[in-house]
Amino acid sequence: MRDPAKFKAEAIARIRAEVPGKAIVAASGGIDSTVAAELAQEALGDRVECLFVDTGLLRAGEIDLVERFFRASRLRYRVLPCAPRFLQALDGVADPEEKRRRIGATFIHVFQEEADRFGADRLVQGTIAPDWIESGGALRDTIKTHHNVGGLPKDMRLKVVEPLRDLYKDEVRALAEFLGVPKAERQPFPGPGLAVRVGGPITAERVERARVANAIVEEEVDRAIAAGKIPRPWQYFAVLLPVRTVGVTGDNRVYGEAVSVRIVESLDAMTATAVAPPPELLRTISERITRALAGQVNRVLYDITDKPPATIEWE
Ligand code: XMP
Repeated sequence: MRDPAKFKAEAIARIRAEVPGKAIVAASGGIDSTVAAELAQEALGDRVECLFVDTGLLRAGEIDLVERFFRASRLRYRVLPCAPRFLQALDGVADPEEKRRRIGATFIHVFQEEADRFGADRLVQGTIAPDWIESGGALRDTIKTHHNVGGLPKDMRLKVVEPLRDLYKDEVRALAEFLGVPKAERQPFPGPGLAVRVGGPITAERVERARVANAIVEEEVDRAIAAGKIPRPWQYFAVLLPVRTVGVTGDNRVYGEAVSVRIVESLDAMTATAVAPPPELLRTISERITRALAGQVNRVLYDITDKPPATIEWE
């Protein structure tokens, strides 16, 4: 970004022009929506409210992390506890795109209700250029399809405002620094959350399994980073697979599920390379996951595929 001060002034003028009344901001705690929220708050003052939705699909400890992050910023925000609602909308759904559609629709319904309560008719989102390019360009560019909002209910009344829609990630980072947005030490995490890390049908139990496995991968990789054993990778996580696999418990053969561990290097998520981690790191992860999820998960695999041909996430 050549001139962040100029961009800021223009963005604030645009937001004021696009929002005659009140607006809510869909805030995820990520850099894009936080920068959008900062601009909106500066433009609109108390005519704007930032909302963070607890979908029940977040990682272990994520709400605390996000709240700490918001407290360190100047944003006025509210956390909306909506886990039962999302899990109900997703119960038994196995198709990845259907998961995204239902999550998107539930997000919009939640936002619409909150907007009605606040008297807002605009929704500010942190959509950036790659989001709408990847989501199908002009055909679907009215909403951040690639991320939090996958399905657009026909009855949506909120108009979307996207102050960052022409920016690329490095420009958002430069703007964030200029605006004094606190840096969050977080790896990228998909908007649909753990729903796309539960292969096959979603149930509350399977989401919890994925959450436990993800937390173990994060803890052990963070430990290896802190000990100087590996450089910080782009993303590291676990995926619960819809596979019935046999294991042994005492003298019995019992069925359980499998977990795949993925650690990738990337510059911009468009391509990625599978990391070759130290064997003892993988062993510790495998032992911890099968112990923490004894009777549920009896096999841990490591994903050695690059992007392409695979994607970073499994779904
Ligand atoms: P893939 O799996 O397509 O992911 O290689 C590229 C990057 O995007 C993240 N990702 C998502 N982020 N909503 C998001 O907000 C999504 O539906 C979604 N799917 C993938 C992924 O974690 C990676 O960083």
